[in-house]
Amino acid sequence: MHSEQIHALLSEMTTEEKIGELFQIPSYFFDGDNATGPAAEIGITDEDIRVAGSCLSITGAAKIRQIQENHISKHPHHIPMMFMADVINGFKTIFPIPLAQGCTFDPGLAEKCASIAAAEATASGIHVNFSPMADLVQDPRWGRVMESTGEDAYLNGLFAAAMVRGYQGPYNNLTEKGKLASCLKHFAGYGAPLGGRDYNTVELSQRTLREDYLPAYKAAVDAGCALVMTSFNTLDRIPSSGNRWLMRDILRGEMGFDGVLISDWAALHELYIHGIAQDHSQAAELAMQAGVDIDMSSPVYIKHLKALIDSGKIPMSMVDEAVLRVLTLKNKLGLFENPYKDASETDEQELILCQAHREAAREFAEKSFVLLKNVDDLLPLKNTENVAFIGPYADNNLLSGAWSFFGDDMDCVTVKDGILNRFPEGKFSFAPGCPIVDPGIEVLGFQKKPPNDPTDPTSALEEAISLASKADKVVLLLGEHREYTGEGASKADISLPACQLQLLREVRKVNPNICVVLFGGRPLDLREVVRHAQSILFAWLPGIEGGNALANVLFGDRAPGGKLTMSFPYCVGQIPVFYNHMNTGRPFFGDYRKERYASQYLDIPNQPLFPFGYGLTYTTFSCSEIELDKNIFSAGDAIHATVQVTNTGSRIGSETLQLYIRDLAGSVTRPVRQLKGFQKVTLQPGGTAKVTFQITEEMLRFYDIHMNYTSEPGDFHLFIGFDSAAENTAKFTLL
Ligand code: GLC
Repeated sequence: MHSEQIHALLSEMTTEEKIGELFQIPSYFFDGDNATGPAAEIGITDEDIRVAGSCLSITGAAKIRQIQENHISKHPHHIPMMFMADVINGFKTIFPIPLAQGCTFDPGLAEKCASIAAAEATASGIHVNFSPMADLVQDPRWGRVMESTGEDAYLNGLFAAAMVRGYQGPYNNLTEKGKLASCLKHFAGYGAPLGGRDYNTVELSQRTLREDYLPAYKAAVDAGCALVMTSFNTLDRIPSSGNRWLMRDILRGEMGFDGVLISDWAALHELYIHGIAQDHSQAAELAMQAGVDIDMSSPVYIKHLKALIDSGKIPMSMVDEAVLRVLTLKNKLGLFENPYKDASETDEQELILCQAHREAAREFAEKSFVLLKNVDDLLPLKNTENVAFIGPYADNNLLSGAWSFFGDDMDCVTVKDGILNRFPEGKFSFAPGCPIVDPGIEVLGFQKKPPNDPTDPTSALEEAISLASKADKVVLLLGEHREYTGEGASKADISLPACQLQLLREVRKVNPNICVVLFGGRPLDLREVVRHAQSILFAWLPGIEGGNALANVLFGDRAPGGKLTMSFPYCVGQIPVFYNHMNTGRPFFGDYRKERYASQYLDIPNQPLFPFGYGLTYTTFSCSEIELDKNIFSAGDAIHATVQVTNTGSRIGSETLQLYIRDLAGSVTRPVRQLKGFQKVTLQPGGTAKVTFQITEEMLRFYDIHMNYTSEPGDFHLFIGFDSAAENTAKFTLL
């Protein structure tokens, strides 16, 4: 419709219809027609359902067509609903979790797979996707780190923008077939809960919020994301859904976001629980004043906005502003002309899980694996070797992350499947070795035990030891159950389950040639794994092609190339640990047993076990000293830093060169280094290549003492290397 028609429609709508556009119903609130169960319990009526503007978590072309047709027929102005869902890492073709995607350092691949996810989801009737999650994370105790791309604002921004482009298309033409509206979340700062405990208080200075947390959200807004979702947490003791400064001044004012702002699940109701609203009526008032357009799955707007309007506390103009944004989004999606958009049972049959999509999932998984250790080239394996694959993940189809609701674990290729697909004649054995979680501990959420989870730990261990003792090499496939990460999955202990550590120790007694492959959605305490294993490969939660991807990487058809985007702490006591920290007045990175009065611990080192940007491959590389074409420059000019990279090993390989910069002195303290660029090289054995980075004044800007975003003259160090601990450095000056 034309804009005038949208305004005309708005002018004809009753107050009830307008408020209905701001009400989102979750699938279980209605059976497609009437309010059922939980809805009735909170007073939602069939009349509320009749005017609802959108609904959540319903999929299926036929089902959505039927619900939409029914809804339009009953709606006084026949306004179609929007169908929204969480398609976080693929729809039915499930990709690696976003934290693994980040480790590819390949935003282009993330864009491609987001496009595949959109094609599958829209075929099944979805119009809006609650992704990308662009929350910066530094605390692996928080279960939702699995949804983030890590601890670096710059990298998170590249991935968030890439996902928006993948979902919405390069021109943000939402009527385009296979494209849907992207919803950036969670605004803002949700990834920094105190204690790593989900939904907990967030305490960030405004400068830290602006420097570290807002840039990735802004990158998604600049890429054109059509919606933004409020976060559950408080900032400055104000819950985001009631925070006018955050939503109207920062998001809409400074960032220029003009799309739809939707609350997180029942977050408007939680304004009352947080204690900044006396009741739901005040919650509705605060949220409307903050500019929240859609109330997800709570009765706050639908039950209280009308009285606020009638009493004059909320002007109709403010409601009209919100409703207009919702109607405009529906119009951008083309729903007034085609309320079913791309819902097609034929496309569902032809597109979903097609071979091309599976191949993309396999490639994404292969590139996301991070090789943390590989002594004496234990990897890659040879298919002539007698290898025992032991562990809860040896033959486990739960390889998709906790946000893979629409996927089916039966579509997943297990490690055993993948290896036997490649080498049906291989001399391999497979055994679970131990349960995936310690006996007696139930995993909350949608727990499923792996199909072959042993019920008798003792005999499972005996079987494993017997197989290990006869094998040339052992691959132990360990890790956290997928429900140990995701929403509401915070943990105070990030070590592997005790039964898995026992398996590792017992196997080590009979066979030293151990590769440990780890699965899970968070950095773990790997100290004991490092002690016992010759090789360590972190496979994250690789999705439905995980088994095929792992077979290819373990046997060397593809070399691992992933790089960590979250630091792996030495132990949970070291958290938060991240590479772009401040120097403090008493920095310390020496031997922690020899100096007391410094910023260090008496019992552990300061350095993480594995740093941001770290990852090995099956060959080695060298990097020359840095050559600068100049070392003094001013704004408008640029410096070029060049290194010579050489493959010093015996296999073809890829490396991700990373550029870090440190501002030695600013009007406020500056991080000891910040990622400012990266480039990938692939070289044959003995091959060499020049890699050049351009440094500009814009890259040196930050929020100064007056909160102005600017650069300051002075001296800088730059580092170029293979991870954030790179010592290859050079100096330059900005005039
Ligand atoms: C959840 C999550 C959010 C998700 C929403 C809808 O509580 O916080 O990320 O998009 O509800 O499922």
